[in-house]
Amino acid sequence: MSDLWITNAAELATPTGSQPRAGAAQGEIERLHDVDLLCRSGRIVAIGSPEEVALAARMGDGPPVDRWDAGGGTLVPGFVDPHTHLPWAGTREAEFAQRLAGRSYREIAAEGGGILSTVASTRAATEDELADLTRRRLDRMLAWGTTTVEGKSGYGLSVEDELKQLRALARAADRHPVEVVPTLLAAHETPPEYRPDTDGYVELVCSEIVPAVAAEGLASYCDVFCEQGVFTVEQSRRVLLAGVEHGLRPRLHADEFVDSGGAELAAELGALTADHLMAVSDAGIDALAASGVIAGLLPGTSFFLKKDAYAPARRLIEAGVPVSLATDCNPGSSHTESMVMIFWLAVLELDMTIEQALTAATLNAACSLELGETHGSLEIGKQADVVVLEASSFDHLAYHYGIHPVEAVIKSGAVIYERDRSAAPHS
Ligand code: NIG
Ligand code: FE
Repeated sequence: MSDLWITNAAELATPTGSQPRAGAAQGEIERLHDVDLLCRSGRIVAIGSPEEVALAARMGDGPPVDRWDAGGGTLVPGFVDPHTHLPWAGTREAEFAQRLAGRSYREIAAEGGGILSTVASTRAATEDELADLTRRRLDRMLAWGTTTVEGKSGYGLSVEDELKQLRALARAADRHPVEVVPTLLAAHETPPEYRPDTDGYVELVCSEIVPAVAAEGLASYCDVFCEQGVFTVEQSRRVLLAGVEHGLRPRLHADEFVDSGGAELAAELGALTADHLMAVSDAGIDALAASGVIAGLLPGTSFFLKKDAYAPARRLIEAGVPVSLATDCNPGSSHTESMVMIFWLAVLELDMTIEQALTAATLNAACSLELGETHGSLEIGKQADVVVLEASSFDHLAYHYGIHPVEAVIKSGAVIYERDRSAAPHS
């Protein structure tokens, strides 16, 4: 909770408000030039010309504020990554090589690879090891401008191993400046010891895992991988309702490979978000639009799985569905911590405008974590979570791709990441 006076920013680009922005409003952002920004106790208290902000800095009650030079860069809100599978152990490069040779993700999964291979390595890891791996991922996220991230369990698939993953996530978050919102994804896959009795595993999730996680206060949300061959709509509904009973609001992996009615289920239950949606139907889009559920798009998955199909971002936006963006950071279908990479994919593959993509990666993502009042935009009263881009205009974020454009990251008014120019010469 710091005081800071950011000077010398060529531009500030931000969505505005505290509600998800849909339709035309998704593409409307505010752009200000040659601005200073003042934070007190971690919150933004003034944005304006250097003279206006100097006046605000003198008028405040607090002590003199340190000035920090943004070097002529551009300020955008800290990125919010609302869908990741953070606390896992092990890697799947052999499977990656098989996919490059032409085998599909679902074929590999059907033979016991995929998610189940990460379940084996995550079960074998200690809580300490998982916390350490998670911390390193948070460091990478931070360097790419992420200031708030959601993290899911889902590679434990037993009472003890799901608890271990979520405890490790909490420990990693405890001493890390990136803010973490935890989600229980016990219904990610049926573990080997239950196969083929998926209903038996669903019963364990509902009667034991959800209550145990809720009792320890380890998760805010409950998620399910609702997909052909994984969990049906009926099984997903059961798990999500068990979550609701224990105070865990629903989010959903929906219609990733096959249209299985996941979007409609998310709408029926008033889920915060329906994610993936590569195969969503027109009826699914209509259901999302009518219910206000946010569509969480994960273009890193299409990219990393070498799919031709990307989610229908434009159709969703035209239908009035608010769209968010996330990395889906996981070892199988999207191995990246970089929201900047996702921004490039959103613009170049999902055909979103840079303005729509910025709203998706900040305000709409924050709203999907119920943080829209405090996060997701650069406005007076909001938490001072700021990314400083090494660019004189926000337009360059998409245009100059493949570089590391993040000069600095500020969380609650404290500079928590600064690129070392001498050690890492760039562009
Ligand atoms: O969101 N779709 C399901 N779960 C992850 C993939 C997890 C894995 O392959 O390990 C996803 O893409
Ligand atoms: Fe996912």
